[in-house]
Amino acid sequence: MKPVKVGICGLGTVGGGTFNVLKRNAEEISRRAGRSIVVEAIGARRENPDCDTRGTHITADIFEIARNPEIDVVVELIGGYELALELVMTAIEHGKHVVTANKALIAVHGNEIFEAAQKKNVMVAFEASVAGGIPIIKAIREGLSANKINWLAGIINGTGNFILTEMRDKGRDFADVLAEAQALGYAEADPTFDVEGIDAAHKLTILASIAFGVPLQFEKAYTEGISKITAEDVQYAEELGYRIKHLGVSRRTENGIELRVHPTMIPEKALLANVHGVMNAVLVDGDAVGQTMYYGAGAGAEPTASAVVADIVDVVRTLTADRDNRVPHLAFQPGSLSELPI
Ligand code: HSE
Repeated sequence: MKPVKVGICGLGTVGGGTFNVLKRNAEEISRRAGRSIVVEAIGARRENPDCDTRGTHITADIFEIARNPEIDVVVELIGGYELALELVMTAIEHGKHVVTANKALIAVHGNEIFEAAQKKNVMVAFEASVAGGIPIIKAIREGLSANKINWLAGIINGTGNFILTEMRDKGRDFADVLAEAQALGYAEADPTFDVEGIDAAHKLTILASIAFGVPLQFEKAYTEGISKITAEDVQYAEELGYRIKHLGVSRRTENGIELRVHPTMIPEKALLANVHGVMNAVLVDGDAVGQTMYYGAGAGAEPTASAVVADIVDVVRTLTADRDNRVPHLAFQPGSLSELPI
């Protein structure tokens, strides 16, 4: 069988991690996908010193990747809104399947992207957009597909959790820990997205869409970050037997689906209170299964690459099986608005 050809756009933290994981685990990955997967080209303005890209075509023009007739799957890892949207729409127009880690893109432009993808019968997969390496989208969409989801709550921004953990454990200064999170490649290009809750709201919007079958409505989320949390707040919470965690919460209410992101005091013995550093965790309450919890690295090159590559494998498996029904890759069925407004 012919190999599936992938084009990676963006060779930063996640792009570099994706390239390296695909290369290092090529045999395992191809075995699981049932077909070999080849990185045909990379679209990036600069090299990544952590990647040995010798033998792979590199172009500074990402649109060359989106239009390349040889490429089957375009992996969008450039981040941001506008350019990423143009790239993804161009790839879809050219009949490419798309894998993206871009939560801002999916939360804000997902509805139009999925509609375009459905018209072209191509897949758009976005597991890496929420909670880094935790396969939370697959868990909710597939593992919990029998359930009516009542609510979900989670720590879904690694940078924010890293800052709160270091402030509590080591009494470190907010700005100093944020600078370290940036150096480690955890933070967004604009770290206000992390500390003001915007990144978590993007992710919560996506999770709620999958869990409750509602369209993506980022603008409806109540969004509050951790930038006003002081060392004293952390200490007082501690004295009262609580930890301050930044949570994303979504639940069914009589009036629709609630979406909110804000700092929360959690009893110190609760599982979510014991999620430290860059780790993420999501607690999901389903009517049949009860509560289940998913835990793992929420940011970083290879944890995020793990989810990106899993999506590539998933796309390749679906392609190979030549399934007509590619809807499971979408967050919801475009055009069929849910009975549960946000
Ligand atoms: N800046 C994000 C975080 C990266 O810290 O969680 C992963 O989405």
